[in-house]
Amino acid sequence: MSDTVISLQGISKSFLTDEIETRALDEVHLQIQKGEFVSISGPSGCGKSTLLGILGLLDNASSGRYTLAGQAVETLDNRARARLRNREIGFIFQAFNLISDLSVEENVALPLQYRDDLSKQLCRQRVKEALERVDMAHRARHYPAQLSGGQQQRVAVARALVGQPALILADEPTGNLDSRNAELVMSLLNQIHADGATLCMVTHDPRSAALAKRTVALFDGRVVEDHLNTTGQAQGRELAWGAQ
Ligand SMILES: Nc1ncnc2c1ncn2[C@@H]1O[C@H](COP(=O)(O)OP(=O)(O)OP(=O)(O)O)[C@@H](O)[C@H]1O
Ligand SMILES: [Mg+2]
Repeated sequence: MSDTVISLQGISKSFLTDEIETRALDEVHLQIQKGEFVSISGPSGCGKSTLLGILGLLDNASSGRYTLAGQAVETLDNRARARLRNREIGFIFQAFNLISDLSVEENVALPLQYRDDLSKQLCRQRVKEALERVDMAHRARHYPAQLSGGQQQRVAVARALVGQPALILADEPTGNLDSRNAELVMSLLNQIHADGATLCMVTHDPRSAALAKRTVALFDGRVVEDHLNTTGQAQGRELAWGAQ
């Protein structure tokens, strides 16, 4: 189906350290449609960041099939994966992850660096618009260390949206923010979703999670719950592939 942005079929991920195998993801099945806003929850260590890393092509699954925007990820070489990641995905991390020796505008311009389809002038325009959108245009020449945490995260949001990706992945985007800045960032993410982006967000914050239209809960690397949030009240539905 063309409206399916993400399709995971039996995705597992194991890490091997000091002869100990950790199964971070265990047979995850997940379909996400274009324009969905999904929150991913679950206790520490249950595999949320691992899942986001795989969804974002930052990491490979150990087994299973991942189809992103109609493309079977396993069949892509590194170059094609990088290209797909660069064009289709925007990331927002808990720790902001801005590059300290680049200015705000240079950080935001990074995802456009390899876009041979955009002229220099159009890139500058996009950066300017993205910074205006998060109300950070007045700090374009500043460096990350000269900004507050909330401001840094707004710059990170601008960086995530500057390439107009179809999919935004956010890993605890409000985890390091006070409640006012958390609200600002969530309201931005909500607007981006309203504009048509597909959004997957890991969050421990119930207020942020309540904005999502769907909640996927993980436990020990498995999807144990997947429900739609209707009028603020979650309606649970059992999954055929739930934990056994
Ligand atoms: N690079 C790695 N090497 C070895 N083990 C790892 C690695 N990354 C993650 N793990 C293990 O995989 C499991 C899942 O980790 P993950 O970071 O996905 O959890 P999480 O749900 O994001 O937790 P948190 O809420 O604390 O961020 C954990 O047991 C973790 O120790
Ligand atoms: Mg995590």
